Amino acid sequence: MATHSSRGYSALQIMLHWAIAILVIFQLLFGESMTAVVDASEEGTAVSGQDQFLGSAHYWVGLGILGLVLIRLILRVAGGVPQAAGATSWMSILASAMHWAFYALLVAMPVTGLLTYFDIWDLGEVHSIGKPVFIGLIVVHAGAALFHAVFLRDGTLRRMLAPAR
Ligand code: HEM
Ligand code: HEM
Repeated sequence: MATHSSRGYSALQIMLHWAIAILVIFQLLFGESMTAVVDASEEGTAVSGQDQFLGSAHYWVGLGILGLVLIRLILRVAGGVPQAAGATSWMSILASAMHWAFYALLVAMPVTGLLTYFDIWDLGEVHSIGKPVFIGLIVVHAGAALFHAVFLRDGTLRRMLAPAR
């Protein structure tokens, strides 16, 4: 099983990275509509048409993310990811920890969401705590990517934009 590929990310890996990033940002921006739908059904009150629409989008986009993440994990385990570009060892350890934290969240969010939605196990609080955790990780991750691009100029961001294989 390969864990590293020296040849960069494939076009599919890059597409999945950005598609998932956009869908996650959508979930974080509009997730509260799902909370409004759940609260209204518990209290027997009505929700606005907009919350109804965004609540249902939350469900389908969340399932989409889960499917795409599973494909991405399979690709990563089978084909590996490139070795950190010119980074010191503590940097690659940190980057790797950050990437696995993302994968854990990308699976945990849909799973806790589904368990809550179908009244199997009320993990709504855990699911909601995922929001600030996710935002914190994204800020650090995007900040690191920009730091690489602007100060280190080691091609880290470029290889997530242009496929190598
Ligand atoms: C990566 C995927 C997902 C992300 C990032 C995400 C994010 C969020 C956010 C930010 C909220 C609002 C929390 C708040 O009001 O403070 C929320 C609520 C909710 N989401 Fe998701 N979600 C995801 C996937 C899903 C999926 C697949 C479902 C399945 C149906 C789901 C079901 C729910 C439910 C039921 C709530 C209301 C929780 C409650 O108030 O008890 N989510 N989600
Ligand atoms: C918003 C949600 C985001 C998530 C969940 C996410 C997740 C990930 C993950 C898991 C990886 C590891 C590579 C892999 O397994 O394919 C990665 C790599 C990367 N991400 Fe993101 N990312 C997000 C947003 C961003 C943004 C906004 C940027 C740029 C500003 C960015 C730039 C990069 C770069 C440059 C790499 C390659 C790092 C390397 O090769 O060591 N990501 N991302």
